[in-house]
Amino acid sequence: MQRILVRGGGPLSGRVAISGAKNSVLKLMAATVLAEGTFTIRNVPDITDVRLMAELLEAMGCTATLDGDVLTIVRPAEITPEAPYELVEAMRASIVVLGPLLARVGRARVSLPGGDDFGQRPIDMHLDGLRRLGADLTFEHGYIEGRAERLRGTRIVLEYPSVGATENVLMAAVLAEGTTVIENAAKEPELADLAAFLNRMGATIIGAGSSTVTVDGVEHLHPVDHAVIPDRLEAATFLTGLAVAGGELVLEQARPEHMDMLMHKMGDMGLRTSAHPDGVWAAAPERIRAVDINSLPYPGIATDYLPLMVAALSVADGPSIATENIFGGRFRYVDELVRMGADIRVEHHYALIRGVPRLSGAPVKAHDIRAGAAIAMAALGADGETVIADAQHVARGYDRFVEKMRSIGADMDAD
Ligand code: UD1
Repeated sequence: MQRILVRGGGPLSGRVAISGAKNSVLKLMAATVLAEGTFTIRNVPDITDVRLMAELLEAMGCTATLDGDVLTIVRPAEITPEAPYELVEAMRASIVVLGPLLARVGRARVSLPGGDDFGQRPIDMHLDGLRRLGADLTFEHGYIEGRAERLRGTRIVLEYPSVGATENVLMAAVLAEGTTVIENAAKEPELADLAAFLNRMGATIIGAGSSTVTVDGVEHLHPVDHAVIPDRLEAATFLTGLAVAGGELVLEQARPEHMDMLMHKMGDMGLRTSAHPDGVWAAAPERIRAVDINSLPYPGIATDYLPLMVAALSVADGPSIATENIFGGRFRYVDELVRMGADIRVEHHYALIRGVPRLSGAPVKAHDIRAGAAIAMAALGADGETVIADAQHVARGYDRFVEKMRSIGADMDAD
């Protein structure tokens, strides 16, 4: 998928099924490094990032087969504990193989990830946590060279509740000797899903989803069969589309308890949302109201929601302020919205949005996954056609994006 073409139009309606969470499945796939045998992961989204993680596992010697939404991973007795530059560069999330490789194989060679469209993205907390567990980490030629005898449990206080650092440390601690306590841990539902996966494998983790996670190390883990939680970011995308285009939707499988703050804010914007026996029901007002939003670690408004919400607020009635607290450089999509007629000014990590009645379709560009999706949602309410270039970014994180949008009434194509 190179381009997405969107023609602004009428309301959205009907039902759409939410796929498994990208930010969960990638980590579950990394966790398969921890035990020999055959894993079955269900509710897997068909997205480029899953294919990249599968490629990484295959480069290590595993086999990974996606059949519909069922992913089978066979992890052999011996693997090559290496994550090459090409794959880490293509997908930063690959860095989460470092912890499980050190814990299970005792060594790892993982490329250092570079910056990306969100700006600088350091991994110091990942490395610090793994060192505290006893790993010896050095850097050579752009690679992290890691070695570890058996890791030892300890108390690790994270400077910030980083999702990736919590996951890396967690996946190392499950096979460490003794008890690890992670303080100021990330509380995202995807982290809780990873802990559930690991516990099913035989790990002993208590408190995942809260800021203190306690892990009693075990000697061995075994393969499991597990279904990925639904993607709250995909659900948020459909809610944003609804806010812009109007209408009424049922988001099948969506979990309202994972989206409390989002539904609350969407409510302030005038959307009606409620839990539905099949997921989440939502209906849009005539025109949404302006609200101020702040990205924060879970359960706050996710940084990944912000581009989507800014896109919607660009046509809200009144002015809004969106504050990005997680990734300072994450406002590049604003220039694209401005090309479509939005009135948004970025100052440092704030975006000042003056809602306009309507946007107008234009040629624009997707800088990253959420930016691309946000622009597509904005385009649903724009006059004329929007052509989004670099749409391959959207395919990295969205399962059958255009097909699903079309099924609920969006006038969208891809080529
Ligand atoms: C994950 C998600 C991403 C989401 C983000 C925040 C995946 C694949 N990606 O990314 O979609 O936007 O959580 O919810 O799950 N930081 C450091 N040092 C570190 C680690 C992080 O300074 O060692 C900083 C980051 O620069 C950022 C903040 O901590 O400012 C949060 O990052 P983190 O939670 O680690 O995000 P990711 O796990 O990379």
